[in-house]
Amino acid sequence: MKDAAPQPTLLAEYQPYPFTVTGVELTFRLAPAATRVIAKIGFAPNPERPGRHDLRLDGETLTLISAAVDGRPLSPTIDGAGLTVPAAALPQGPFTWEAEVEIDPKGNTALEGLYMSGGMYCTQCEAEGFRKITFYPDRPDVMAPFKVRIESDLPVLLSNGNPTAEGEGWAEWTDPWPKPAYLFALVAGDLAAVRDSFTTMSGRKVDLAIWVRDGDQDRCPYAMDSLIRSMKWDEEAYGREYDLDVFNIVAVDDFNMGAMENKGLNIFNSKLVLASPETATDADFERIEGVIAHEYFHNWTGNRITCRDWFQLCLKEGLTVFRDQEFTSDMRSAPVKRIDDVLTLRARQFREDMGPLAHPVRPDSYFEINNFYTATVYEKGAEVIGMLKRLVGEDGYRRALDLYFDRHDGDAATIEDWLKVFEDATGRDLAQFKRWYTDAGTPRLAVTEDWQDGAYTLTFTQKTAPTPGQDVKAPRVIPIAVGLLNPNGDEVVPTTVLEMSKATQSFRFDGLSARPVPSLLRGFSAPVVLDRAVEPAERAFLLAHDTDPFNRWEAGRALAKDVLITMIADGTDPDGGFIDALGRLLADETLDPAFRALCLRLPSEDDLAQTLHDAGRAPDPAHIHGQRKRLATAIARRLETPLAATYAAMATPGAFSPDAASAGRRALRLACLALLNRIDGGDRAAALYNDAGNMTESAGALACLIEAGRGEAATNAFYERWHENRLVIDKWFMIQLLHAAPDKTAATAERLAAHPDFDWKNPNRFRALMGALSANHAGFHDASGAAYRFYADWLLKLDPVNPQITARMSTAFETWARYDADRKALIRAELSRILHHPSLSRDTREMVTRILG
Ligand code: ARG
Ligand code: ZN
Repeated sequence: MKDAAPQPTLLAEYQPYPFTVTGVELTFRLAPAATRVIAKIGFAPNPERPGRHDLRLDGETLTLISAAVDGRPLSPTIDGAGLTVPAAALPQGPFTWEAEVEIDPKGNTALEGLYMSGGMYCTQCEAEGFRKITFYPDRPDVMAPFKVRIESDLPVLLSNGNPTAEGEGWAEWTDPWPKPAYLFALVAGDLAAVRDSFTTMSGRKVDLAIWVRDGDQDRCPYAMDSLIRSMKWDEEAYGREYDLDVFNIVAVDDFNMGAMENKGLNIFNSKLVLASPETATDADFERIEGVIAHEYFHNWTGNRITCRDWFQLCLKEGLTVFRDQEFTSDMRSAPVKRIDDVLTLRARQFREDMGPLAHPVRPDSYFEINNFYTATVYEKGAEVIGMLKRLVGEDGYRRALDLYFDRHDGDAATIEDWLKVFEDATGRDLAQFKRWYTDAGTPRLAVTEDWQDGAYTLTFTQKTAPTPGQDVKAPRVIPIAVGLLNPNGDEVVPTTVLEMSKATQSFRFDGLSARPVPSLLRGFSAPVVLDRAVEPAERAFLLAHDTDPFNRWEAGRALAKDVLITMIADGTDPDGGFIDALGRLLADETLDPAFRALCLRLPSEDDLAQTLHDAGRAPDPAHIHGQRKRLATAIARRLETPLAATYAAMATPGAFSPDAASAGRRALRLACLALLNRIDGGDRAAALYNDAGNMTESAGALACLIEAGRGEAATNAFYERWHENRLVIDKWFMIQLLHAAPDKTAATAERLAAHPDFDWKNPNRFRALMGALSANHAGFHDASGAAYRFYADWLLKLDPVNPQITARMSTAFETWARYDADRKALIRAELSRILHHPSLSRDTREMVTRILG
């Protein structure tokens, strides 16, 4: 018999669980291949679901040893997804469920539930991993206090909450705060601690510990410092105090995602904890700071207030990303952070929103929720909150957030609840604004101008293309931050937020003495694409004079893009005016080096490909690559002297410091190097590689040497020096692929995949190789199709081992529709080969089906 087609989970079908859970007691008898989990769970009828109900518990990959209700043994009906105890076999009121199951952490390669990494036990339960630990209503709206006993000979035994008892070979943890199962965590291993403490605003002392493998302690101070700064910041910025006696962070080498906010016991991918100047780049330091903060901030936005169901994922993720962005802006440079965030948004979320995987910030249907931990839910989710804040102002935002914490502490909440606190706190109607949550797609904003008798009028028209399942798009509320400049460069109208809510809408500015130059969408005040034909002279004017740093950078980026698109279209020489404008910026020492570094960065090949596609032309990846290099060479030739001077001036002698100012100098230095490298044959890079005292410069120099075609010796030396450090060897794989020449990329990938250190079951290693392969735009899309085939082969190999990573990485193919008929056919053939694989995971099946459209 054929299986019935799997059914999606629908937001519209949400129903509360028929029972509440009054308490959970778990005992773990740890053994690598046969761990016993003994659960004692109190259930009571849920008044929100009157009547009598079967007891349905989720459970996967569990071997049931015994089960009982109120002490009476029973044999429930088990299927692939869980078990059912018929209502008739249950008492009318509250009852106690007991079950013993056996699980196999050592055989768990999917890294979801309880698994082993380098000899230690650890867990990942979000979104639906707890059901691989014991039978349970594994859904976020079922919240309960947990008590956990761990039995093992391993020296360190950790779980959520506070440590309440321990003895020889066991430890007990109690978490007083009711939580959903996805926040459960357990760690057991031979670990070393780096300790510190934090005194909260009400004077409670919290013991902090970061747990790592012995020998890694000296790479923890930055993470610890970031944690302490995060705890302080959340008190100052949001009035949020930590609520347990201990806060533990554990670093693990095998982890599907970045990190996880389990209550009181955050578990991190080791690459987001461990850092020293020799092993981590400035970008790594900044990411560590941001993710430590992100997971810590979840304690209030995610844990104390959680999500009713997984459709509301953006309730915690969008808000927590927004909060970690604010934190980083406060710790570092706010304009630079904003530009970085917009670059990421455009590179990942716009790409998603314009392709077959487009979905709303709050989706309404899924087959596999792990497929919805996306740039749309996270990064666009954060942008939507940024717009809300812009619309209601600082004070309104603060009042709304205070009300949110006050009203919903302890709740499993929804986006409706979230919007309601803004409505109640500010008196604003957000019915139309809600479309940002329910409608997919990136609006395009067309602009026209009119100038008459001292009145200047801007007319905007918004349009959002259809997305899968949503053919018609209603107008959204769009906050458009605008400033006006005089022709002499003075600002005549400071930043003003125009509130657009109709399909077409005009805004008029009176009393101007001359036709102004508009600076539109300042600070990227809404996640939209601005469509406005602008003369190069006007862009150069804004690049020189705009008071809004984001728009200053944006003008330069738009200029570079115009120049590149023209070069690609008709092979003309690059525009000298653009290069001279860049030169003036480079030499302007009043500007932050990090900002200048961003201005020197050319638009990515992927971005150019999308832009060409939007203009109705099929992008040719090899040609794009060639023209982008050609522009870089032209910039280097024309600006050789100032680039060389800045390269020398930006050296950071003395002890390494990861602070933003020093990192900015290194970024500018490496940006100059990357350009000079096009004309000096790699000489500067070779010298830098030899003297580099930190990973930022070593990695930057190695990349340049590979680009210059003389990377072999340095590549080998790098391996010799670092082969015992996994995180650095991940970089070694990555750099070689990111910078491989297009026609050699697939062969490089094949060679590296045969390297003994290509431990492909480790997600970081798999991503280092395959992620870099797909990020090498011209190499991945080489006309031979070799990279497509190789990539698809590896997805098929990984799928049975780790479906979550496989599904996520299938997004390398999401842009297939942009390309020419031959490439389209090649990619579609690989996708359908994957789809027809007999035992493909639900995760990958859903993704590939959606990508094919
Ligand atoms: N909540 C985690 C975060 O901080 C991400 C966990 C995602 N896990 C997953 N299996 N999809 O963003
Ligand atoms: Zn998160």
